[in-house]
Amino acid sequence: MSTLPKILVFDSGAGGLSIAREITAVLPHCDLVYAADNAMFPYGEMEDDQLISRVLEVMGHLIEKFTPDVAVIACNTASTLALEALRARFGTTFVGVVPAIKPAAKTSSTSVIGLLATPATVEREYTNNLVKDFADHCLVVRVGSSKLVEYAENEIAGNPASNEELEAELQKLLTTTNQTPMDTVVLACTHFPLLKERFNRLNGWRNVQWVDSGSAIARRVKFHLEEAGKLKPAQLRPQPSLMLYFTDTDTHPSIAKCYQQHLIADNIFGTISAHTGAVKN
Ligand code: DGL
Repeated sequence: MSTLPKILVFDSGAGGLSIAREITAVLPHCDLVYAADNAMFPYGEMEDDQLISRVLEVMGHLIEKFTPDVAVIACNTASTLALEALRARFGTTFVGVVPAIKPAAKTSSTSVIGLLATPATVEREYTNNLVKDFADHCLVVRVGSSKLVEYAENEIAGNPASNEELEAELQKLLTTTNQTPMDTVVLACTHFPLLKERFNRLNGWRNVQWVDSGSAIARRVKFHLEEAGKLKPAQLRPQPSLMLYFTDTDTHPSIAKCYQQHLIADNIFGTISAHTGAVKN
């Protein structure tokens, strides 16, 4: 059995890969389980009650199966709704990805910021409170886009959307009558950083600062592992493993390969495997 710390990264689909990449950059000597609840994808259009019970159900299954040292809810839609319920139910250490409104409001020069998320996240009480607490002095333009979630998933699967399709979604951020330019956009869905390089190449979007929570989350995970005394000296470390886990039992092996490719750019993993397992709800 591996003696390495084990990190579970969880999302509805490919979005959490943007977080997992940041985590492996900061913590390359940890076993990583990447779990996608793709049987219920997308989360951004689910009813609140249904989503809370689904996330509790799936996390119960994953915690029992993998006993992670830290579980990362790499999904703004799930974290902004279910983090409290997860912490109340399980003894596991959770790190939740939530909209990076605070750093965006701090670094914006024009104080006009975009908030790009799922339709569910843009309307959450949790999001309202973040805006109230940290961006009260800003104009925050909120856009909920399920299309961008789908485009990001397709991008990872090797089926990219056109520039026009991406542009049409981003244009929705500009439907304000405000004259001051928007200089910062919060990517408040973990799927969206997967499209950041594409966004940066689009006319009119090159000078925008895209802000997400990835590196802050990686630092938070490291803090928890350090605090628990789980990070051992380098010479004692075996090579880490990567396991991909999908709740849709019909997931084609080519999808697992695409996910994997997004994570192993620097080849840190000794063993890599992919599994499926249905979770009843
Ligand atoms: N990646 C997720 C998020 O950060 C949600 C995508 C979805 O399933 O709608 O919100």
